[in-house]
Amino acid sequence: VLNINLADEDATLTLARDLARITGVGDILALRGELGTGKTAFARAFITARRGEATEVPSPTFTLVQTYDDGQAAIYHFDLFRLTKPDEALELGIEDAFADGITLIEWPERLESLLPDRRLEIDFFYGETPEARIAWINGGADWTARLAEAGLG
Ligand SMILES: Nc1ncnc2c1ncn2[C@@H]1O[C@H](COP(=O)(O)OP(=O)(O)OP(=O)(O)O)[C@@H](O)[C@H]1O
Ligand SMILES: [Mg+2]
Repeated sequence: VLNINLADEDATLTLARDLARITGVGDILALRGELGTGKTAFARAFITARRGEATEVPSPTFTLVQTYDDGQAAIYHFDLFRLTKPDEALELGIEDAFADGITLIEWPERLESLLPDRRLEIDFFYGETPEARIAWINGGADWTARLAEAGLG
C-alpha cells in the first residue's frame, strides 16, 4: 500500500495524470472516499490527461455513468452513489467497461461482489488542512510494478 500526501488539489491532479500514463484497456480504478474527498477531481484530471485536450467532465451523480474516448480506449466514469442494488450496474454496461474499457468508479463499494479483484484501489481521506487529502493506493503485483515505473513506488 502506498500512502501519498496530497497537500493541495494540484497534488491530486498530478497523481491522476501520473496514473493516466500507466493505465490501459481493462484497467479498473476504484475511487473510494467520503463526499468531497476529491474522487471527481481526480477523474476529471485523469480523463483530460488521457484525451490530451480540455474536456468537460461532469460528475455522473445522476447519470451514474459518463463515457469518453481517448483515441485508444473508451473511458467509463461511474458514480454509483445512487445505485440501489449491485445488479443495476449491469444495466449500465459495467461488464463492457471492465472487458474493454478503462473504468473509473466512484462509490465502488456499491457493487459489492460485482467489483472485480483485479482493480487498483485508491482511497481518499481528508488531511489536516482544508486543502489536504491523503491517498492510499493498493493493487496487485502487476500494479505494484507499474506504480514503481511511474515513480510512485
Ligand atoms: N487536495 C485536494 N484534492 C482534491 N480536491 C480538493 C483538494 N483540496 C480541496 N479540494 C476540493 O474538494 C472538492 C472535491 O470535490 P469532488 O467533487 O472531487 O469530491 P468527490 O469525492 O467526488 O465527492 P462525491 O462523493 O460527492 O462525488 C473540490 O471542491 C475540490 O476543489
Ligand atoms: Mg464525485
